[in-house]
Amino acid sequence: MTGIFDSGVGGLSVFREIRKILPQERYIYFSDNAHCPYGEKSKEYVIDRAREITRFLLEKGADIIVVACNTATAAAISTLREEFPVKFIGMEPAIKPAVQNTRTGVVGVLATAGTLRADKYIHTREKFAEGIRIEEHVGQGFVELVESGNIYGEDAEATVRKSLEPLLSCGADTIVLGCTHYPFLAGTIGKVAAELVPDRQITIIDPAPAVASHLADVMEEEGLSKSHPEGYGISLYSSGDPTALERTFGTLL
Ligand code: DGL
Repeated sequence: MTGIFDSGVGGLSVFREIRKILPQERYIYFSDNAHCPYGEKSKEYVIDRAREITRFLLEKGADIIVVACNTATAAAISTLREEFPVKFIGMEPAIKPAVQNTRTGVVGVLATAGTLRADKYIHTREKFAEGIRIEEHVGQGFVELVESGNIYGEDAEATVRKSLEPLLSCGADTIVLGCTHYPFLAGTIGKVAAELVPDRQITIIDPAPAVASHLADVMEEEGLSKSHPEGYGISLYSSGDPTALERTFGTLL
């Protein structure tokens, strides 16, 4: 069984891609919404949460774990790999495909403060972004919009505009979604971008499909794939009120 966790519903944007390529597996999803958002919390805090959730998922029978959260991946995945005897699949900031895609030579990255200050992110940027300008911005208020289900409409657009405009005004034509909550706002991000820079074609990059395909490869290598002919199954857990998780999961069906 594949365990998946995030600070909230964001990891469902990763589950959505996983289910496309592994449609007959068993999943267990944990939303840590009682402690959400992780983005502004200390590294130690996020490591403690990741440890506790990992223990829970292992007790429930997970044999591989997807850290479907960029902030938790950046803060905790190396500790989790040292402390627990299972494979962990983490989120990668999609700098490499963004650098390959840009025509203006400017890439915009939207992520949490925790992700943007992490060594993991800084190393990825140093490795892949040579000769390309990378502009970063925290998606201020994005997680709250997604957790509350307000992903379309004027309020969502106004919130998105504040964080997106600084990236577009630097010339970005490629926007990396460096937080797993943000793909649920991709429609609004696209709409706001089209209004702000109508003459520029904007590409939005979500790393989730690449993470899903990496998970499938690792499960195959490790002999963990167990196809159930009746289709996939998922158990949903949350540390707080389950309403957001149930509502967002409902939108995936
Ligand atoms: N979904 C998360 C991420 O990918 C965390 C958002 C948050 O809790 O601040 O970074």
